[in-house]
Amino acid sequence: MQLADGVYFYSSPGGLDFSGDICSNTIVIKGRRLVVFDPGTLKYLPSLLEKMVADGLNPADIESIFLTHSHPDHLEAAPAIAANYRARIYMSRVEREFLKDAKDIFFAKYLYPGPNVVFETCEEGVMVVSGLELKLILTPGHTPGGFSIYWPVGKILMTGDIYFPGTIGAINLFGGSPAEMYKSVARLRDLGGVEKVLCGHGPAIVDRDMVIQNYRALFAEIAAKKQAGIV
Ligand SMILES: [Fe+2]
Repeated sequence: MQLADGVYFYSSPGGLDFSGDICSNTIVIKGRRLVVFDPGTLKYLPSLLEKMVADGLNPADIESIFLTHSHPDHLEAAPAIAANYRARIYMSRVEREFLKDAKDIFFAKYLYPGPNVVFETCEEGVMVVSGLELKLILTPGHTPGGFSIYWPVGKILMTGDIYFPGTIGAINLFGGSPAEMYKSVARLRDLGGVEKVLCGHGPAIVDRDMVIQNYRALFAEIAAKKQAGIV
């Protein structure tokens, strides 16, 4: 569905239920061409492309794919899109290294990218892709090299699995770190001007009040976790 001018949000099939068939949300932003954030899994790629076409987007216009992190429920479909539409795939340099260590743990039930798949790596900072100026913010905690991505023109923040509506992301997976996660959430809270947050799973956070309310819930959760000694 179109969420704002040039911004399309495709919610994951399972929402915040992680017990079944997990696939991430996907976000598409129109620049000169299309930039896709977290394309999800191969199983749901056909329905994602159908929804894009229904919204008037041509998948052949996909220029780049950004991965917030390397978990397969966000990444698995990226090589197929890259191959079909000659798109480039980006992730953080730290996360690219992590993927090498993590593949046997996370990709048991998913298709691991073949040897010819190229992941271009980037560092924290501002990057222009398809004419869109994106602010890449390294937010470890869920994985060591996860990016949150802020698009200042749309005032939209994409958090991957750092947090969702009402709760922080998983901190107990391989490569996770509670202490890093708490710092990452605080860093994102301190970003000025965010009006919409599109997380890796769960519904969109679509106005400033919801953004603020959500941080209240997240920091209550973090305080409780610290109280329980989870640091
Ligand atoms: Fe994840």
